[in-house]
Amino acid sequence: MTKTHFGYQTVDESEKAHKVAGVFHSVASRYDVMNDLMSGGLHRMWKAFAIAQAGVRPGYSVLDLAGGTGDLAKAFARQAGPSGQVWHTDINESMLRVGRDRLLDQGIVTPTLLCDAEKIPFPDHYFDVVSVAFGLRNMTRKEAALTEMRRVLKPGGRLLVLEFSKVWQPLKKFYDVYSFKVLPWLGEKVARDPDSYRYLAESIRLHPDQDTLKTMMEQAGLDAVKYYNLSGGVVALHVATKY
Ligand SMILES: C[S@@+](CC[C@H](N)C(=O)[O-])C[C@H]1O[C@@H](n2cnc3c(N)ncnc32)[C@H](O)[C@@H]1O
Repeated sequence: MTKTHFGYQTVDESEKAHKVAGVFHSVASRYDVMNDLMSGGLHRMWKAFAIAQAGVRPGYSVLDLAGGTGDLAKAFARQAGPSGQVWHTDINESMLRVGRDRLLDQGIVTPTLLCDAEKIPFPDHYFDVVSVAFGLRNMTRKEAALTEMRRVLKPGGRLLVLEFSKVWQPLKKFYDVYSFKVLPWLGEKVARDPDSYRYLAESIRLHPDQDTLKTMMEQAGLDAVKYYNLSGGVVALHVATKY
């Protein structure tokens, strides 16, 4: 049986998706408020940067994977307009429901789809833009997911991967205290679930750093891969094209 990580635990590959699902079923209703609290609102700027780099134009077809509560899908749907199509997708029904309700409440009618990024149910060469924000880290077979993302992109299409990454060394001590003490405390107080936020801190530490992820994307066949460090490397945006 192949092993993988769920935070600092070593688990069978077959168990990881189930455990990740437990995290997001548990936090879905409090996900947005926790994002604002944990990041001091910074996640909005990280996402705004990714949205700007995506360059979505009217008529584009866009796939937002691991879309959760719909921040990226909302912006893309406005940019793509009625002639475009923006798919808001996630593997987790609880997250997807919160996102779908939120999009509808804001007057955005766009398709919502339960979708595993490791097995994307779309034909080859279908999308102008594929995005995944804070999702790749939770996937069991990241290489398979990146290969799928490339497959569904049109030639000339763009992939955006926004994810926590390796922080600038001088910030590390502060960041470790914040991640391992403050996040679980906030998780306990606000979401009544410290373990999910401990998983968040641990999964960030085990996620490939900027250069490793760049190499993984190149190995998945993506071209012109570059990355931007945001907030001292707390987060990185990787952008790639499919030639
Ligand atoms: C931290 S949330 C990110 C949500 C949203 N993209 C954002 O930036 O706010 C991570 C999401 O990844 C989803 N996810 C985990 N594994 C997945 C997979 N294999 N395929 C699609 N989504 C997945 C989870 O269900 C969860 O909603």
